[in-house]
Amino acid sequence: MGALVMSKAITIDGKSVSFIDGQTIMDAALAAGVYIPHLCHNPEFEPHGNCKLCIVSVNGRNMTACTMPAAEDMVVASNTPELDSDRQALVQMLFVEGNHICPACEASGNCQLQAAAYYLKMLSPHFMHFYPPREVDASHPDIFLDLNRCILCELCVRASREVDGKNVFGISGRGIGTHLVVNAASGRLGDTNFAVTDRAAQVCPTGAILIKRQGYKIPIGQRTFDHKKISEVQMEPVKRTEPEHE
Ligand code: SF4
Ligand code: FES
Repeated sequence: MGALVMSKAITIDGKSVSFIDGQTIMDAALAAGVYIPHLCHNPEFEPHGNCKLCIVSVNGRNMTACTMPAAEDMVVASNTPELDSDRQALVQMLFVEGNHICPACEASGNCQLQAAAYYLKMLSPHFMHFYPPREVDASHPDIFLDLNRCILCELCVRASREVDGKNVFGISGRGIGTHLVVNAASGRLGDTNFAVTDRAAQVCPTGAILIKRQGYKIPIGQRTFDHKKISEVQMEPVKRTEPEHE
């Protein structure tokens, strides 16, 4: 007689979602077709819990779905007006902490921050703009690094370390002074061994890492989020969430 395998399940917004040991709430949700908003999560890389957009209520306590392991009988609430309001405020803070001038950004229409703002029905930044002075680094022959648009998701950090084996990117500073740095004494991307073919060159959810000589190759109006919601795109296989740079 074969052993009876009991599948484990959590409940997300009233829906029973099965999981296997080791999966996070986010893993289980995405596998079951349940969307939880997220910006710094990419199933290719170790979760980091940076953006907090995936915050859900787990048995009454707020936690990040991308880092919280699923455990039997968890009751998770995600799609609630309160949590979406918190998520909208988080996205508004990301907009005012950096310098995001969407109409002048080549990533407009392919940008997950912009798409998340639309998804969460953000109508204005609400908070006072910080207008922080940030660097634009055009020293690399093939890539622009524009820190005005960096939301510190650390996807490039993880991709460079975990996939490319290079550690080109890192995070430095603390609090409002936290910023992305590159692995060169000069601080210039052109002095690192970063290559346009690196996975880290493909993962930026905003226009902070842009490949040169691709500008407006895909016209405005024909870009990923011009015809799809971020929830649809992020539920697709990973390869289809890449920005349309090529
Ligand atoms: S450059 Fe892009 S991928 Fe890297 S931390 Fe900033 S927003 Fe994230
Ligand atoms: S997606 Fe979970 S904290 Fe960013």
